[in-house]
Amino acid sequence: MEKIIDENQQGNSLVLQQNKNNNRKLYIESYGCQMNFSDSEIVASILSKEGFNTTQEMEDADLVLVNTCSIRDKAEQTIRKRLEKFNAVKRINPKMKVGVLGCMAERLKDKFLEEEKIVDLVVGPDAYKDLPNLVQEIDQGRDAVNVILSKEETYGDISPVRLNSNGVSAFVSITRGCDNMCTFCVVPFTRGRERSRDPQSILDEVRDLWDRGFKEITLLGQNVDSYLWYGGGLKKDFAKATDIQKATAVNFANLLELVALAQPKMRIRFSTSNPQDMTLDVIHTMAAHKNICNYIHLPVQSGSDAILKAMNRLHTRAEYFELIDNIRKILPECAISQDMITGFPTETEQDHQDTLSLMEYVKYDFGFMFAYSERPGTLAERKMEDDVPEDVKKRRLTEIINLQQKHSHYRTQQHLGKTEEVLIEGTSKKSDMHWMGRNSQNTVVVFPKENYNVGEFVNVTIKDCTSATLIGEAVGYSDNN
Ligand code: SAH
Ligand code: F3S
Repeated sequence: MEKIIDENQQGNSLVLQQNKNNNRKLYIESYGCQMNFSDSEIVASILSKEGFNTTQEMEDADLVLVNTCSIRDKAEQTIRKRLEKFNAVKRINPKMKVGVLGCMAERLKDKFLEEEKIVDLVVGPDAYKDLPNLVQEIDQGRDAVNVILSKEETYGDISPVRLNSNGVSAFVSITRGCDNMCTFCVVPFTRGRERSRDPQSILDEVRDLWDRGFKEITLLGQNVDSYLWYGGGLKKDFAKATDIQKATAVNFANLLELVALAQPKMRIRFSTSNPQDMTLDVIHTMAAHKNICNYIHLPVQSGSDAILKAMNRLHTRAEYFELIDNIRKILPECAISQDMITGFPTETEQDHQDTLSLMEYVKYDFGFMFAYSERPGTLAERKMEDDVPEDVKKRRLTEIINLQQKHSHYRTQQHLGKTEEVLIEGTSKKSDMHWMGRNSQNTVVVFPKENYNVGEFVNVTIKDCTSATLIGEAVGYSDNN
């Protein structure tokens, strides 16, 4: 989150400021999309008021929580393995309680307690405010479950603590849930119906981040372009809103503009965009405000009309190309990235070729590519046979990954010789002598540290590149400092 599923982040545990009055220890580990990492910050914030300080030593913890992901079978298997490890520790330390949060909790509900005997607590993504009660229950020796999905909950009133933050970039969640019902996707079942957060609470959170020295935010949601605030409630109930509510409603383009104007020096990103909901207004708003970054994560999943239809993606290949053409026209410098699925039911060799030719047309800057994994309860699982053999899925996946690698390299080469503004995030993983940051397009840039510091905007001339990284030299501060 980045969109997304940052493999380096998977399973990270989170630590926040310690409150001296707290005497219990919480260990919290997160998997999956950035929304989960963001939710873990909300959970830690709620539990810090219940006497818990976070720890990075799982063995020491009174309460071990794992924020789970259900998006593919592999994600769930990883978490089952982690639970085995927790089980071994619990045998040595029987006082330790184990809780499962997030999408897998929502999907399996109390079945979790039967299947995984070590689990004491099961909490779905909309029930975190009930944690104080649920923790009391387990303290008294009872198992506790709350997996009720909500029409209103956006956690807008909870100020999330920033866990393991670099102090420079932060995520701000703006919508929860998803109404799109892509036929392969478990998210609408695990995260409920789509609702938007009050723009005022978003602006307050962004201002607070700026005051604390943050320089970049990513507005977060499963489908941010669908954001719609009309005083609260589900997106699907907008038709029933009053005339005044409709006239004063705030859509995503409006929200972007509000945030961009309120914090003119803060870099603004957003993720994820769904092609069917992205409007020209959003693209024009990006063009009108220098502080909105030139980067759109625009998953397409397939290049074939037949597969797009079977996936219930509500646009055609031609409409996607039209959107891409508009982005290129209005924002010539904009980077675009994709998510792609290979081997969706009925996918033929021709469908796969259509995906490759769509990629050839767009030449994405980055990509996140997956083999189809059938998920229980989805329409695809109920109505379609998972009929593409595993080896064919894998071969097609390799082909699109290789093509993406070629395009990524083509894109990074376009930056050679240019001087670009980079926000410094921290030390490069490969060298203590170099800073790592990102340009507006979200491409990683590394350059010698000299006297620059974390959190500064620096102009960097790009001298060299790999398919994923730009290598350059600073030529001075940018005027954004
Ligand atoms: N709108 C969301 C999508 C979440 S899922 C967002 O914020 O990004 C992230 C990606 O996982 C999807 O875009 C899709 O490419 C992939 N994905 C989802 N369900 C999948 C499945 N059943 N099998 C394989 N990949 C899947
Ligand atoms: Fe999933 Fe489609 Fe929503 S991929 S999260 S149902 S936009």
